[in-house]
Amino acid sequence: MKLVLASKNPKKLAELSTILSGLGIEVCLQADAGVDVEVEETGATFEENSMLKAKAVMEASGLPAVADDSGLCCDGLNGAPGVYSARYGGPGLDDAGRYRLLLENLRGQTRAAKFVSVITCCFPNGDVITARGECPGTIAFAPQGSGGFGYDPVFFVPSLKKTFAQLSPEEKNAISHRGKALRAFAEKLEAYLG
Ligand code: IMP
Repeated sequence: MKLVLASKNPKKLAELSTILSGLGIEVCLQADAGVDVEVEETGATFEENSMLKAKAVMEASGLPAVADDSGLCCDGLNGAPGVYSARYGGPGLDDAGRYRLLLENLRGQTRAAKFVSVITCCFPNGDVITARGECPGTIAFAPQGSGGFGYDPVFFVPSLKKTFAQLSPEEKNAISHRGKALRAFAEKLEAYLG
């Protein structure tokens, strides 16, 4: 079976291909399926946004399509930045600018937080598979580590006493929201395909 990934990111393709190769599933980027859609992430939840992306690419390609949506939810900010994680603080900020703003806004607030990833796969016959992964942690008081991306330098994992940016890709994948969602998705897809 061939799956189209609703993304332009080759790193996401490599991640998904690795985990699905054992199931005999071929994954390609939307551009390789001749699809050039830019989906506005207007949903209020990760589920809605991943569904919007997967459905648009499924409809444009006529093939099963899979999309992910992820972000960081902080208890001290009532779940923000959440679905706005990539856009937090507006278009003028880079990754470091966004996590600095987060540290500023969290001053005096509780530090509990979680990363969330939701994967949705839409089939042309109307079937939908959804998988969610969460990774609990806390927001550090200052950035530490140089690996990863996004909010990794300030996302602290108490059980490992390290931030995501201090973990190797393998260590992060073993516990991360995305790793959990991907593995849950692979299991559900395997069961669906029988
Ligand atoms: P998406 O590509 O729409 O899912 O955007 C997710 C955004 O959430 C990213 O741009 C990051 O800001 C943040 N994010 C999601 N996963 C991670 C992670 O594993 N580490 C750091 N930041 C993340």
